[in-house]
Amino acid sequence: MKKLLQYNDANMWSAACGAGGAHRAELKALQSKLRDAKAALDHLRLTDSQGWFNLPYDEKLAISLMLRAKEVKRNFTDLIVIGIGGSNLGAKAIWQALGHEAQGVKLHFLDNPDPEVLAYWTRSRKVWKKTAINVISKSGSTLETMSIFMLLRHELIKAVGEANHAKHIWVTTDPGQGILQQIAKDNKYRMIDHPLTVGGRFSVLSSVGLFPAACAGLDARKILKGAKAIERAHRRQGIKHPVATFAALHYLAMKKRGQKIHVLMPYADRLKDFGLWYRQLWAESLGKRGKGPTPVTASGPVDQHSQLQLYQDGPKDKILTFLEVATYRQSVSVPKAWSGASELDYLRGLDFSTIMQSELSGTAQALAHDGRPSGTLRISEISEESLGALFQFYELATAYLGELMGINAYDQPGVEQSKINVQAILNKL
Ligand code: PA5
Repeated sequence: MKKLLQYNDANMWSAACGAGGAHRAELKALQSKLRDAKAALDHLRLTDSQGWFNLPYDEKLAISLMLRAKEVKRNFTDLIVIGIGGSNLGAKAIWQALGHEAQGVKLHFLDNPDPEVLAYWTRSRKVWKKTAINVISKSGSTLETMSIFMLLRHELIKAVGEANHAKHIWVTTDPGQGILQQIAKDNKYRMIDHPLTVGGRFSVLSSVGLFPAACAGLDARKILKGAKAIERAHRRQGIKHPVATFAALHYLAMKKRGQKIHVLMPYADRLKDFGLWYRQLWAESLGKRGKGPTPVTASGPVDQHSQLQLYQDGPKDKILTFLEVATYRQSVSVPKAWSGASELDYLRGLDFSTIMQSELSGTAQALAHDGRPSGTLRISEISEESLGALFQFYELATAYLGELMGINAYDQPGVEQSKINVQAILNKL
């Protein structure tokens, strides 16, 4: 059986890319810091002050969410997920990766308060008959989420009537506090608990990501199963697990060589939104107190014709992680098209998956040749399990990096001032 997730770091080392790469001695010197980081992670997990470590083990939660999703699937064709940042990027990534072949409801995501997008939901009363809403906000007060919810609830009531509208609404929020839980109780909306000890960007494997996924017809248990495989292996292997090496190499790249731009480049269109989830996780967790890497997400091979010039030939301030798919779920090959076009002969009969994988290899080799490090995360295929594995892998890597950098990866003080300013501006209107 192919491995769910593998990390190939060969091109991260100086042996492959000279002065741009890490030295074995650096990793050796980091061992005691890594051990301390692992101990800190264990503490966060065992005291349950960060609940996301244990989410992969909560099969009961997955089952109960799938049962609750049955009601959505039975009565509706569409589900609008209202939420922003950590409250929607995970579900969005799952939907893009797997939604097209699932048998549940169609998901729509609303996060930006962009009138040109929102207007669509005000135009037709008919759409509401078969459309439900899952509003997700841990705090229950996020401006963008709540303003959109207020609009959509209003439209829903216009379409189906005050007496019926509650049947269309599921609210995911902190059950103990916040205006949204109050509204939900007062209006008898169905409530789904947002776990107290899990922050937004670490919440994809909780009700936040799993309920929309289950409504879309996906198997939430399988998502957790993939995450559990990583979590369990990490608990067993400790700092020998590839996730510790992955984090250490990112840390050393920043610290020793000033490679502070961390590019994630999936070679699969269906994993582009996973890149957006990664970007938020990395940025909001690790960008603190004047420090932190800048996460960038690119898409292969498309960005070989766009960003790659910069990665290959620009400042040596980047490391890349390619996201490779071992087996694509579809097999399509290049047919024989013309005779007499011998320049294109090398393409004839090639499977498109071979083209994708060769493009990745060729690019990694070219980067290494120019002293630019890259690693490859390889998933067996795009599936519920592999996505779960990827989510847990990246969350663990983020936790390691937070410890190595000496910062709190779980708060986001930098976004508070802009929230205060926006509210002040709106209050004056
Ligand atoms: O990761 C985070 O904590 C943030 O991105 C939040 O998820 C985002 O700000 C939305 O917050 P809330 O769920 O309270 O609406």
